[in-house]
Amino acid sequence: MPVLYRKYRPKTFSEIIGQEYVVKTLTNAISMGRISHAYLFYGTRGVGKTTIARLLAKAVNCQNRKDGEYEPCNQCISCYEINEGNALDLIEIDAASNRGIDEIRNLKEGINIVPVKSKYKVYIIDEAHQLTKEASNALLKTLEEPPQHAIFILCTTEFSKILPTIASRCQRFEFKKLTLPQIVKRLEFICSSEGVKAEEEALEIIARAAEGSSRDAESLLNEVINLQPDIIKKKTVEEILGIVGVESVSRLVEFFIKKEKKKALEYLDQIFQRGIDVENFSKRLISYLRDLLLVKINPEIFDKNNIFTKEEREELKRQMKEFSEDDLKKILKIFLEAQQEIKWAELPQLPLELATIEVIDNL
Ligand SMILES: Nc1ncnc2c1ncn2[C@@H]1O[C@H](COP(=O)(O)OP(=O)(O)OP(=O)(O)O)[C@@H](O)[C@H]1O
Ligand SMILES: [Mg+2]
Ligand SMILES: [Zn+2]
Repeated sequence: MPVLYRKYRPKTFSEIIGQEYVVKTLTNAISMGRISHAYLFYGTRGVGKTTIARLLAKAVNCQNRKDGEYEPCNQCISCYEINEGNALDLIEIDAASNRGIDEIRNLKEGINIVPVKSKYKVYIIDEAHQLTKEASNALLKTLEEPPQHAIFILCTTEFSKILPTIASRCQRFEFKKLTLPQIVKRLEFICSSEGVKAEEEALEIIARAAEGSSRDAESLLNEVINLQPDIIKKKTVEEILGIVGVESVSRLVEFFIKKEKKKALEYLDQIFQRGIDVENFSKRLISYLRDLLLVKINPEIFDKNNIFTKEEREELKRQMKEFSEDDLKKILKIFLEAQQEIKWAELPQLPLELATIEVIDNL
């Protein structure tokens, strides 16, 4: 099976999920013919920087696009060559590979030569923060007086490592992490295009594991489909990803609330028997306890931020009401200490069991 995130890389702006501000501003600029000569796209990995950079390149050079429009046609020779990855006037430089010294030198030599057959010569400089000082300075010189036919698009995950003098010459766009529903929607689209059925919850688990990156979600989906080609089930996804779901930690917390020491210990034993990693479980538990504390202090905190599903948010709020702020702080501290001990413990689950007993005894 081909690599999904390459196969489904959006070919029009309408296929982009999220990044509304970036898309709106850029498509307006394209429609009105007000193109900058230098852009800086920054933000976390796998959220559309390179994709939108190529879309911009395609749109400005598209031979069928009329004034007032912004979508590339994907039919003309220019669009076709960009889609195929062999357009002469789109130069992609990967600053990570050799830190860009030769490329920037070539760039300086070639920059004044007019484009071969397009309106613009577009330079996409990926991982721009990896450019050496020398290459950065050379680039800066070019950015000070770019020729009319040149457009630079610098992409980076590390804005703070870009020379301020370079950043200030660019029109800057921040790319945001994608939300859970946005990623799920994208996964649904890919599944249906591939003719694969999937349980909604299974896709949510994949989306959550990707932590806001569409590419990561798509590669996970790829792995899952390889192993389970016809229907994607929640249970299998959990097994494949080795994830300890939120539900498994909230169940333990429920035993705290009911002060059911015996059941809590049985439950822990049962999940570790099943082969769940103690350290992962412990991390997940701490992160969940932290979330409980955060909603306790600010009940709206997760309403905007879509890292949880609706059911999880409701469950979180319900459980939060059962504890005082002090309780939560105390429980967190107990499990933070246990977490330290797991690494060295002869029996890794023992620190968690002791912590569980301590928590229930003291509530
Ligand atoms: N906003 C988005 N809308 C739709 N698909 C996306 C989006 N962001 C990422 N993708 C998917 O993820 C793939 C990789 O995205 P892209 O290469 O644009 O990420 P990036 O931000 O440049 O990441 P990196 O910082 O790692 O280079 C795309 O081919 C596409 O399938
Ligand atoms: Mg990229
Ligand atoms: Zn075109």
